[in-house]
Amino acid sequence: MSSGLDDVIAAETALSDVDGLQGRLIIAGHSLDALAGQVEFEAVLALLLDCDPADLKAAIGAARLRVFDHLSAVDGALLNMSPVEALRALMARLADGEDDETAHALIAAPAVFTAGLTRLRQGLSPVPPDQTLGHTADMLTMTYGRHPAPEQVAALEAYLVTVVDHGLNASTFAARVVASTRAGLTSAVLAALSALKGPLHGGAPGPVLDMLDAIGQPDNAEKWLTRALGDGERLMGFGHRIYRVRDPRADALKAALAKLAAAGYVPPERLTLAETVEATALRLLKQKKPDRPLETNVEFYTALLLESLCLPRGAFTCVFAAGRVGGWVAHAREQIATGRLMRPQSRYIGHNVTAPLGV
Ligand code: ACO
Repeated sequence: MSSGLDDVIAAETALSDVDGLQGRLIIAGHSLDALAGQVEFEAVLALLLDCDPADLKAAIGAARLRVFDHLSAVDGALLNMSPVEALRALMARLADGEDDETAHALIAAPAVFTAGLTRLRQGLSPVPPDQTLGHTADMLTMTYGRHPAPEQVAALEAYLVTVVDHGLNASTFAARVVASTRAGLTSAVLAALSALKGPLHGGAPGPVLDMLDAIGQPDNAEKWLTRALGDGERLMGFGHRIYRVRDPRADALKAALAKLAAAGYVPPERLTLAETVEATALRLLKQKKPDRPLETNVEFYTALLLESLCLPRGAFTCVFAAGRVGGWVAHAREQIATGRLMRPQSRYIGHNVTAPLGV
């Protein structure tokens, strides 16, 4: 038994397959390379939810308009929370069901709420959704208050597609457990979002930028990273439970970032710093742990991509949720369809006291 359930197969799924030895990710039968940077987010959602892409696009557009009203409930207390906690509090206001309307609202909400909360924190009014736009373009329009450049839409689209589903990761597992109790899709997504928040899962990209800022310049990378590893720190954006080779999502996002850089949206010195830090970290990790392959994970280039899109680093986990929510909903439905409550066993290792409890 492993306390991290490392080799336990806890569900059968037709949604995605993570091959950690080959570094391959299959989403609904398609290789990540064939999806990221190639197709719209809604097209991948339609594959996962097994429905018509055009109908789904229209339904999610309508759902964005419906959930927008919840932003009127944002008060000072909510704005004092961290962005992901505020997102969770707003998501908790959505009706809990297992129907399509609930599913569409849940998929629409992280984009609408993240954009609205970002603007409210900046002292700006939320921008209402435009259901004629694609989900990604609308998310950026609601954030910026103007139409984004096509390169910016393409970069965020590649990101949302890349992170939409990834096997039985911690948040997806949480979603399936809650869905199996028949508590409702909103409850399942709230559990997943809570799991995503942790720095060992979806909370890593903000700290990746903190690390780059602390390093400051390429010349400083060796010294800073050596000190951090010497102090027993984990380098954010490196290592993975399943991958023993490079995370294919890191390459998909590096390619998306390169296109954004070619269009002038990434400061060249930031890219140089990131590439130096990545190369140095990989070399030092190899020296420190020669028997445990530690490679770049999805969060490293996520951090640079989302920063280049001028999204606030405190909200990166919320943007991750805007993509992953599609996977959570699809997995929750797949689990419900099994009709089976998830209820594993534990092995008791406590005491067996035979004497009566003295009072
Ligand atoms: N930096 C330094 N050392 C590391 C790192 C890292 N990023 N990752 C693992 N190690 C070390 C561990 O300290 C451990 O050393 P030890 O045996 O001397 O104690 C060894 O490598 C094995 O690590 P495990 O804890 O067994 O690896 P696990 O599978 O639990 O870790 C995890 C996976 C949590 C992602 C880890 O690599 C990590 O903390 N990375 C940094 C945070 C991060 O980038 N998270 C995002 C992951 S991607 C995602 O969830 C979307």
